[in-house]
Amino acid sequence: MMSMMTNAPAIVTTPEELRRHMGRWKAAGETSALVPTMGALHEGHLSLVRLGRAEARRVIASIFVNPTQFGPGEDYESYPRQMEDDRQKLASEGCDLIYAPRAQTMYPEGAATSVHVDGPLTQCLCGLSRPHHFAGVATIVTKLLVHTAPDIAIFGEKDYQQLQVIRRLVTDLGLPVRILGGPIMRDEEGLALSSRNAYLSEEQLAIARSLNKEMRRTAARIAGGVDISEALEDAEQVLLRGGFDRIDYLEARDAATLEPVSRPGKGQARLFAAVFLGSTRLIDNMPVA
Ligand code: PAJ
Repeated sequence: MMSMMTNAPAIVTTPEELRRHMGRWKAAGETSALVPTMGALHEGHLSLVRLGRAEARRVIASIFVNPTQFGPGEDYESYPRQMEDDRQKLASEGCDLIYAPRAQTMYPEGAATSVHVDGPLTQCLCGLSRPHHFAGVATIVTKLLVHTAPDIAIFGEKDYQQLQVIRRLVTDLGLPVRILGGPIMRDEEGLALSSRNAYLSEEQLAIARSLNKEMRRTAARIAGGVDISEALEDAEQVLLRGGFDRIDYLEARDAATLEPVSRPGKGQARLFAAVFLGSTRLIDNMPVA
């Protein structure tokens, strides 16, 4: 415990403190990778920290539960917050610094500036059911990138649409940062790790674990030539019978543009799902091939 704490990364809360650390590293010619998170860290987040360590000399993790990306009635208030536990986990992965700004730092009194990514990338999937979500994400990620000015920023494919939206935003604004995507980390039964899995009862967890299996089966059927809409309709029925309370969406889309695909083989198709167990919303995605 003691040795872990000795190596624990410092926590900075202001852009000025952050820039002091970054400036020292830059002056020494050291490269840096930022891993933005909302905390309640699990293996999925930590895999991105490890990717950062492989790609850059310094790794900075940000922890900020961003109010603007939650809709009314969503879980902003109840979202798990566990800074000390997160710090221990980051320490054991060799993370160099934690940026944990306060809400009034990220959204100063009178804040009136936001970043919107328009177009097909945000007008589908989570963009439809969470209409303000991606503007909230784009706004906070822009601020985090401007405050940190890292060489690399790393995001998980778990939030595949978010990753594509961030790539678009970085290209459009000409931000000098390389965006890297990391693969989805899953539990031994294939359930994509998520901070929101903590909301599930044992019974719900068992149902949640069937999602990736049904998606895998559906992806294989589509790759094997079954009509896409037929395969998706079957899968929806299987999921509802299996205990999911509601399917927000289950769709096959182009991996780069997120445009709908009607036949496999044209471009690289991916399956995307968002489902509800009680009030908990779970998402997952995987390639069709
Ligand atoms: P959060 O949900 O905390 O996720 C932080 C990062 O971890 C995201 O890039 C997400 O895709 C990645 N991640 C989550 N679960 C993962 C898994 N099972 N495998 C691999 N990567 C995983 O995403 C956000 O926070 C926020 O929207 C944020 C980008 C921080 C902006 O507020």
